[in-house]
Amino acid sequence: AALEARLPDPFRLVASDMKTLSDGCKELLGTDHPVLQSAAQYFFDVDGGKKVRPVMVLLMSRACNASCAPPPAPFALACQRRLAEITEMIHTASLFHDDVIDKADTRRGAPSANRAFGNKLAILAGDFLLARASVSLSRLRSVETVELLSTVIEHLVKGEVLQMRPHVDGAGTRAFEYYVHKTYYKTGSLMANSCQAAALLGGSPAAVQRDAHEYGKRVGLAFQLIDDVLDFEGSDASLGKPALNDLKEGLATAPVLLAAEEHPALLDMVARKFGRDGDAAAAHELVLRSDGIARARDLAIVQAELAMDAATRLAPSEERDALVALAARVVDRRR
Ligand code: FPP
Ligand code: MG
Ligand code: MG
Repeated sequence: AALEARLPDPFRLVASDMKTLSDGCKELLGTDHPVLQSAAQYFFDVDGGKKVRPVMVLLMSRACNASCAPPPAPFALACQRRLAEITEMIHTASLFHDDVIDKADTRRGAPSANRAFGNKLAILAGDFLLARASVSLSRLRSVETVELLSTVIEHLVKGEVLQMRPHVDGAGTRAFEYYVHKTYYKTGSLMANSCQAAALLGGSPAAVQRDAHEYGKRVGLAFQLIDDVLDFEGSDASLGKPALNDLKEGLATAPVLLAAEEHPALLDMVARKFGRDGDAAAAHELVLRSDGIARARDLAIVQAELAMDAATRLAPSEERDALVALAARVVDRRR
């Protein structure tokens, strides 16, 4: 918090670009079918999202542009603003599908899309978002960017599938390694590759693109570790989505895997996805009696610091400092 107070506010710095972002998304989602349109636009109308990803892309764009000699522009280029929209649309599409898979009733402080429109339309609306994001992506006329963002979509699916089967051998070794691997696909890849694409679109050299990628990847890992912590510490109201949901869904999150090092009884429960009567409650109890939550938070801080290191390798600018602040904020967040 002390660090953040000395740094520029990441959200304020890109506020004017963010105003046009949601209008840009809505425009991209126009269709002659009113039901599909309202379903696809739903979360852009609700507008309760944190918008971490587009803010990150806009800041990274400006920070990388400032590093170029001569800089292509003092602000984000039109193609980079487009990229921020695409990133938010892919993310929102994945949430439409995720809430069907997780049977979640709330999202961003409102009924989830599946709750509001039913499972079938929620899936189709997610597909539609992805389709329109792809059209917008192709209009950037950058095959490398298309490749980066298409790979993200593959990774989102892969991460979700990896998560379906808890990877625990008898001793629980490598379970955490598997978690980190899964988390890169599920949460890190979108941030990493969209940050890299932001650098690429501004004409930054390969070394800068690598730092941008590293920044997004580390923030992504920190973000998911905190997500896992908040599932234990938050409430439905504070999160705007169901709390204590991960155990119910059978997920082996970071606090559980770390707690299992103190309470190996958790490993059997992880392996059967907390499927027996009383498993979820017993696991919850064991996690609270361990250092799992505190250690997950510490690991998030380590990842955020690695993100800050990567940002610090960029040329000095207000936006670079805001990227440092954003990494700090991801760890401090309450929702
Ligand atoms: C949220 O996780 C979910 C994701 C970050 C990715 C979900 C990906 C898919 C469903 C694959 C399909 C992808 C596309 C692009 C259509 P969570 O359930 O742990 O978080 P939550 O608590 O916010 O629900
Ligand atoms: Mg979910
Ligand atoms: Mg999920």
